[in-house]
Amino acid sequence: MKKTLLSLAVAFGLSMSGSAALAAGGEAAEIENIPFSFDGPFGKFDQNQLQRGLQVYTEVCAACHGLRQVAFRNLADHGGPHYSADQVKAYAAENFEVYDEELDEDRAAKPSDKFPGSNIENAPDLSMMAKARAGFHGPAGLGINQLLYGMGGPEYIVAILTGYTGETKTQAGVTLYENKAFPGGWIAMAPPIEDGIVEFADGHSNDTQHASEDVAAFLMWTAEPKLMARKQLGMVSVIMLGLLAVLLWLTNKKLWAPIKRKDH
Ligand code: HEC
Repeated sequence: MKKTLLSLAVAFGLSMSGSAALAAGGEAAEIENIPFSFDGPFGKFDQNQLQRGLQVYTEVCAACHGLRQVAFRNLADHGGPHYSADQVKAYAAENFEVYDEELDEDRAAKPSDKFPGSNIENAPDLSMMAKARAGFHGPAGLGINQLLYGMGGPEYIVAILTGYTGETKTQAGVTLYENKAFPGGWIAMAPPIEDGIVEFADGHSNDTQHASEDVAAFLMWTAEPKLMARKQLGMVSVIMLGLLAVLLWLTNKKLWAPIKRKDH
């Protein structure tokens, strides 16, 4: 028992630093917490940030990575980037071509289509990446950092995008880039983001850190578009359970009242 308490204390102590150590392939990676707008029980996606993130994805990441599980029309969803139907139509048509089985050829994308898959074989699809890589938080993957800070996949994505050291090496004809956040320390993705790589219409900072945070927030939305609805439901459940507890307590008191009185 004492031992358990001690290790719990240590676990909490470690997680208090606000960064998580990922032990994979024997190498420890540093992942820093970022206060995203969607953290916490009342967190919400920031519509402007999602729009900027979509822009980063479109102009930078889409050259290699697909987003196959996301339909263009979802970009109009409440709680998401929330573009108008016309804007979504124009965005899909201007930026993407999809293969049409009936026409047997490529045509401009329509809102009902899904984003294309990856253009490069070894570049993973990013639709679910923010959730697929959420298992690192806290010591032994206990999720303590996620509980305390809302740390997870988006932090990991930012850490990857900003974690390059500048070192490269060639292995079996492939160039690898040293990256402090990638398990094993060497990633086959060249640093995709640099300061000023995109121009944001809202004038928001476009340095590497901010552009990375924006695209990570966008990828959190693609992985969990119903996050906000789920949180609201969670809050309603907590309130209902609280009411139920009070009612049960009062009922219990009332039921036992006559019996208790006889005792005295
Ligand atoms: C030039 C092509 C290219 C571009 C552009 C690119 N990536 Fe990658 N990315 C890759 C490749 C290849 C891998 C696989 C690397 C590996 O497994 O070593 C990868 C892997 C990743 C991973 C996965 C890391 C993991 O845990 O497996 C993430 C996350 C990622 N990219 C995000 C992005 C984001 C976000 C952008 C846009 C800002 C982007 N990439 C732009 C080629 C690219």
